[in-house]
Amino acid sequence: MQKKRVLIVFYSFTQQTRLLLKKFVEGLEGEGVEVAFEKLVPVAPYSFPFQTNFRLVAAMSGTFFRCRMNIRPINEICFKDWDCIILAGPTWSYHPSGPMLDFLDRYAQQVCAGKVVIPFISCRSYWRLHYWTVKRRLQRVGARPAQPIVFVHPIKEPWRFIGLVLQLRGKMVRSKNSWFRKHYPAYGHSKIQGDEAKAAGRKVALGLLDDI
Ligand SMILES: Cc1cc2nc3c(=O)[nH]c(=O)nc-3n(C[C@H](O)[C@H](O)[C@H](O)COP(=O)(O)O)c2cc1C
Repeated sequence: MQKKRVLIVFYSFTQQTRLLLKKFVEGLEGEGVEVAFEKLVPVAPYSFPFQTNFRLVAAMSGTFFRCRMNIRPINEICFKDWDCIILAGPTWSYHPSGPMLDFLDRYAQQVCAGKVVIPFISCRSYWRLHYWTVKRRLQRVGARPAQPIVFVHPIKEPWRFIGLVLQLRGKMVRSKNSWFRKHYPAYGHSKIQGDEAKAAGRKVALGLLDDI
């Protein structure tokens, strides 16, 4: 019996999507699914952390208006016949990230048409508009968008917003005993969410195997 094959096209700026994908892939591979990756690489990426408040605000504004961030050409492997494609990345100012928007513009037709595509989203909290954009773009090229897999940062507001800004500016409070870190132990996703990502991978794998 031929193995089911999944392509993961991803972009990750602060590594949260990448960490979740690592667990997600454990779930897929644990059920015998073959996985390949395509990392989207911006031609001129933002520096991380942002060096000034102005640069951060400029990035937030640009992404709010869905500015594309040019990516390097993708690899031939993407054009193969995959059983399922995962489009993974962060939300930027309510929308898909700049590199993912560029991927959708330039490659969605060739890579995704006729395929089941699962949006995989890492964000602080607002993901719906991101998902609707991806879904609409996929439907337009004749792909079959599935229910999204979404992870939001698990800490309450206002801490998670303040924590995100501090992280993006490279100014996270270092001392674990500080008053702030009591409310905001760490930036990004939790270990429990890692386990959930693994379970999500397993669920996708079992769904694919059911289709045999
Ligand atoms: C420029 C920028 C804009 C962002 N805008 C949003 C947003 O509108 N909504 C949200 O929930 N998260 C927003 N975030 C937070 C990221 O979605 C979140 O930190 C995510 O986990 C990052 O994933 P990554 O590490 O894979 O890039 C933004 C992050 C950046 C860098």
